[in-house]
Amino acid sequence: MRTDAQLKPVPPCACAAGEGIRHVHMQDTVVAPAEPTSETNLLNLLIVDDERSMRESCREVARSLGFNTQVADSPEHAYQSLDSAPADAVLLDLRLPGSSGLEVLREIKRLRPEAVVIVMTGFATVQSAVQAMKLGAYDYITKPFNFEELRLVLERVTSHLKLTGENRLLREQLKSKHGFGSLVGHAPEMEKLYRIIAKAAHSTHPVLILGESGTGKELVARSIHYTGPYRDKPFIPVDCGSLVPSLIESELFGYVRGAFTGAVRAKDGLMATAEGGTIFLDEVGELPVDLQAKLLRAIQEKEIRPVGGTRAVPINVRILAATNRDLDAAVQQGSFRRDLYFRLNVLTLRIPPLRERRQDIPLLIGNVLERINAATQTQHTIGDDALRLMLAYDWPGNVRELENCVERACTTCSFSTIHIADLPTPLRTFQAFPKPDVQGAEPDTITPLDQLEKHAILHAIDVLKGDKLQAARRLGIGKTTLYRKLKEYGSAV
Ligand SMILES: Nc1ncnc2c1ncn2[C@@H]1O[C@H](COP(=O)(O)OP(=O)(O)OP(=O)(O)O)[C@@H](O)[C@H]1O
Ligand SMILES: [Mg+2]
Repeated sequence: MRTDAQLKPVPPCACAAGEGIRHVHMQDTVVAPAEPTSETNLLNLLIVDDERSMRESCREVARSLGFNTQVADSPEHAYQSLDSAPADAVLLDLRLPGSSGLEVLREIKRLRPEAVVIVMTGFATVQSAVQAMKLGAYDYITKPFNFEELRLVLERVTSHLKLTGENRLLREQLKSKHGFGSLVGHAPEMEKLYRIIAKAAHSTHPVLILGESGTGKELVARSIHYTGPYRDKPFIPVDCGSLVPSLIESELFGYVRGAFTGAVRAKDGLMATAEGGTIFLDEVGELPVDLQAKLLRAIQEKEIRPVGGTRAVPINVRILAATNRDLDAAVQQGSFRRDLYFRLNVLTLRIPPLRERRQDIPLLIGNVLERINAATQTQHTIGDDALRLMLAYDWPGNVRELENCVERACTTCSFSTIHIADLPTPLRTFQAFPKPDVQGAEPDTITPLDQLEKHAILHAIDVLKGDKLQAARRLGIGKTTLYRKLKEYGSAV
């Protein structure tokens, strides 16, 4: 029946040895799972063909080119796969038994308009290839074909996807002149972060987001969700640190009627609420160990067991997790399961603390001021003195602290320009007792007095824009002492 649809015979050993293709042991489940991927390669290919040998051969070639592959043996399984897993490209046999290939193509384009579809046709049906191109197929390949032909087509697809991915990233960046989506910042570390977010958004693997408090972990998680293809589905944040331990399981997995006193009716958990979308497990390091095992099972098996229930319920949810704890250390100490750590950690995003990207401070301040001014019909600006201090300050509470600082200053300042006097106590204390500029000094390092003195003098001159007389007066020393000290430091007097 499918005489036109045979691969030209290529000896398996020739391909395995000569072209370096691994022999892949095929799992002929209809929707085989994608493999974990590295950060640099997240292209997903769905192969739809009812012939097992064809699926296997195409899969081998695609894998050798670095694709993650899924296979489906019927249109229904293809739709199911497209519904549950990402697909950047689809290799579609137009001659599937019992269906019109063009109808299948139409449905694939409806489900995944952005997916690149390559149709496989027989010589006798080139006409349908032409029609397929009109319906939005990217390319076609006529059966029988050999590995080399398929390889060439897939390489073209890879370049095309790379280019459209770069264009998409550019468009995302253009959406915000300040950074990426609602993330503000142009420091090189942030630009790198945006690139990874754009890639991560189009994969379904778990992502572990690391960063100090207030660095924007939740904002990053939201960016991943809202940049990705499932942005219309729910984004459900769960603060694992603030949930009552005895309630976490029922909150996450739901419960059945009668599961415990008061459970008068069954209730869906947050995992089920996030169906098709993303669940964001914030402060995942706080999850009790017994719950870690249940979460691991849910991720691995893609199913949950509501409290009191006997039946497992399938779930299709993307997992993002965040923590400001050192999970590596927690694993060493045994308070966090190693296997769960590895599951969550397929991709890791590290958000730099604000003190490591000080160049973004003015942009962040400007952004908050813009927001406040628009909301309150005011014209607040930042004075040079306040800006200099804010640039020097270490921001232990990161962007959140900076936002609070600007918001408070706007409410307390008497005029529209914010000066040092309007800034909160931690900043003013920092100004009075600046940290000596001792590179890499540990917090418990004892700093010699002469170094502290030097720092105070240079800092005062800096803050007062070189006005040495004023600096001497403010430091409480005579101007001759100040000049003498400057001479000792080798500074121009
Ligand atoms: N790059 C950024 N650009 C703009 N705003 C940011 C940025 N990073 C953080 N913020 C803002 O700072 C605040 C804190 O961000 P977020 O809640 O995402 O931090 P977090 O890392 O989750 O903190 P925590 O660990 O305390 O939960 C939010 O108001 C957020 O909008
Ligand atoms: Mg948070």
